[in-house]
Amino acid sequence: METEKRTQKSAEQTVTRDLSEQIKEVTKESHVRAENTELMLSFQRGQVTLPQYKLLLCSLYEIYRALEEEMDRNSNHPAVAPIYFPAELARIKSIEKDLEYFYGPDWREKIVVPVATQRYSHRLRQIGKENPEFLVAHAYTRYLGDLSGGQVLGRIAQKSMGLKSGEGLSFFAFPGVSSPNLFKQLYRSRMNSVELTAEERNGVLEEAVRAFEFNIQVFDGLQKMLSVAGNQQRQSSTDSKAVHGKTLQILGTFSPMLRMVLGLFVALAAVVGLYAL
Ligand code: HEM
Repeated sequence: METEKRTQKSAEQTVTRDLSEQIKEVTKESHVRAENTELMLSFQRGQVTLPQYKLLLCSLYEIYRALEEEMDRNSNHPAVAPIYFPAELARIKSIEKDLEYFYGPDWREKIVVPVATQRYSHRLRQIGKENPEFLVAHAYTRYLGDLSGGQVLGRIAQKSMGLKSGEGLSFFAFPGVSSPNLFKQLYRSRMNSVELTAEERNGVLEEAVRAFEFNIQVFDGLQKMLSVAGNQQRQSSTDSKAVHGKTLQILGTFSPMLRMVLGLFVALAAVVGLYAL
C-alpha cells in the first residue's frame, strides 16, 4: 500500500522524465531488499551451495518460460516490440542446458518450485493476456538485473561451487551481448521510446515494484524449502541412528552366529532402503 502510494507520487512528480530513470528510482528500495534476501546474501558471500543453485534454476525455469512465452506472443505489441530482444536476452535454452547438466536427461520430472514461483509465473501469464505493456516492467526487472549484478553473481557462483568454467552456468552467460553496459544503454533508450499514457506508465511502475516483490518472495520460498529439506535430512539420520541402536541392542540377545546372519540381513535391508530413497 505504502509502496503503491510512493510509486504514484513519484510518477506524478516526474511524468516528463524517462521511463528508465523512473523505474530505477521507484524500485531502488526493493532492489536493496532483494539484495539482502538470505539467498542473495549467500551468493554475495561466496557461500552459495549446489542445492541452493539447483533449486533456484528450477524456479528461474518456470519464471522465464512464462516471461518469454508471453513476450513471444506479444512481440508485435507496440509496448513490447521495442524491448523484444530474443536473440540477445532469451534465457530459457540456457536454463534448460543447466538443468540437464545438474539433473540429467529427465530433469523435467525433477522440477520443484515454491508456491511463490507459481504465483509469479501466473501473474506473468495473466498480464501477457490482459496488459501486455506491463511486460516491460518484468522484462526490465529480470534482464537488466541479469546483465548487472547477475554477471558478478555468476563468477562468484562458479567459485563457490567449484564448477569448471561455464559448466552449469549458462544462465549467466549472454553470448549475444558483447558489452552489457552498452546493451543496457540501448535497452533503456528502447524503454524510453515506448509510448504510454500516464495511467499505463503508472501501471508499469507499480508492476516493476511488484516484479521485485515476486522475486523476493521466490527467494524466501526457496530458502524455506531448503531449510525444511535440511531438517528432514537431519531428522531421518537421527531416526536411522536410533533404529540402528535399537537393532544392535536386540541383536545382543542372540547367539554369535545368529547375530552375524541377522546383522548382515539388517545391513542389506538398510542399503536397499537407501537406494529406494
Ligand atoms: C546479490 C544480489 C544483487 C546484487 C549484488 C546486485 C547488484 C546490482 C548492480 C551493481 C547494479 C548496477 C547498478 C547501476 O548500474 O547503477 C544492479 C542493477 C540492477 N539490478 Fe541488481 N543486484 C542484485 C540482485 C538483483 C535482483 C534479485 C534483481 C531483480 C530480480 C535485480 C535487478 C536489477 C535491475 C533491474 C538493475 C538495473 C537497474 C537500472 O539500471 O535501471 N538485482 N544490480
